[in-house]
Amino acid sequence: MRRIAISVAASTMTLSLAGCGVLGASESAGEASPTKGNDITVGLLLPETANTRYEQFDYPIFKDKIAELTSDEGKVEYANADASADKQLAQMQQMIDDRVDVIVLDAVDSSSIAAGVQKAKDAGIPVIAYDRLAEGPIDAYISFDNELVGEVQGRSLLEALGEGADSSYKIVMMNGSPTDPNAKQFKAGALSELNGKVTIAETFDTKDWKPENAEANMAEAIAAIGKDNIAAVYAANDGMAGGVIKALEAAGVTDLPPITGQDAELAAVQRIVTGEQYMSVYKSYPEEAENAAEMAVARVQGRDIQFDALARDRVDSPTHKGIPAQLVPVLALTQENIEDTVIADGIHKVSDICTAPYAAACEEIGLK
Ligand code: GAL
Repeated sequence: MRRIAISVAASTMTLSLAGCGVLGASESAGEASPTKGNDITVGLLLPETANTRYEQFDYPIFKDKIAELTSDEGKVEYANADASADKQLAQMQQMIDDRVDVIVLDAVDSSSIAAGVQKAKDAGIPVIAYDRLAEGPIDAYISFDNELVGEVQGRSLLEALGEGADSSYKIVMMNGSPTDPNAKQFKAGALSELNGKVTIAETFDTKDWKPENAEANMAEAIAAIGKDNIAAVYAANDGMAGGVIKALEAAGVTDLPPITGQDAELAAVQRIVTGEQYMSVYKSYPEEAENAAEMAVARVQGRDIQFDALARDRVDSPTHKGIPAQLVPVLALTQENIEDTVIADGIHKVSDICTAPYAAACEEIGLK
């Protein structure tokens, strides 16, 4: 069985105080206005558009859930930072000036945004860190289990290489943006699987998570290692996997090595169908975005018991300890489980994946 079954990973974080209302959540609960009804405005700050998940999944799912939770009375004020930390800080300031009721923040730069988080707090606006752990006095954090993402990628890569893999196998590692704390966790998780088993011949951090930057770095790696000596490529997400493939093809590689990804982007699912990309990581966007919406509304409406129930884990950021959190588990997405994951969750339709150029490949793996 190629499928990697990942059970709900028991969090290694402190769970003991969760739900007792002793930590962060209730500490700052007095600052929210507890009498708000459904007529609320939720600020949503997302980091970029180069990777498709944000505009395609996170934003629409979040917005629909806010509407549902507030009987269509609540509004979402949305801003996307286009990978610019300065732009995001200005967008956050605008939301503070607009006096939104709560801000859900997916930081471009988790460290420099701390100034904005502090300003929001000073203005009495709670901030919930979304997907990436922002520094500063946030109220809560919701994300996927990011270390697990890296482990799943690393394990899948070894699985694709098969039993014979040893230190003579040269791997290229394309990590994410150095300003994104998740990128470090993906990398640590992947290395915990790969270290000692294969050789990481070249490793890169990818500015702004941009596919074109990954493509340029891959061209460098090919020049250094030789196009026929690359056993596999660890690409931290799908956008970059696309860039990696372009560089390999430009160098004349016809038989692509196993390449990982993350995000279950439509183009990546199509590459998985054809076998150009070995795997992606499927993160249930409905689970993350809908639970974030619930957290935000519970926080603003002063429903502390619901809020605490949604954030039972605890995480530490570089600036704050014991932050109430929810970490959603993830799955390896390979040819074997496209139907049970992205299709079952309504993320992609078979008709979107199996367009004319992919029809034969879909047929071959029984996707219809
Ligand atoms: C990460 C996120 C990934 C991926 C990446 C690029 O923080 O967890 O899902 O999309 O950013 O934006």
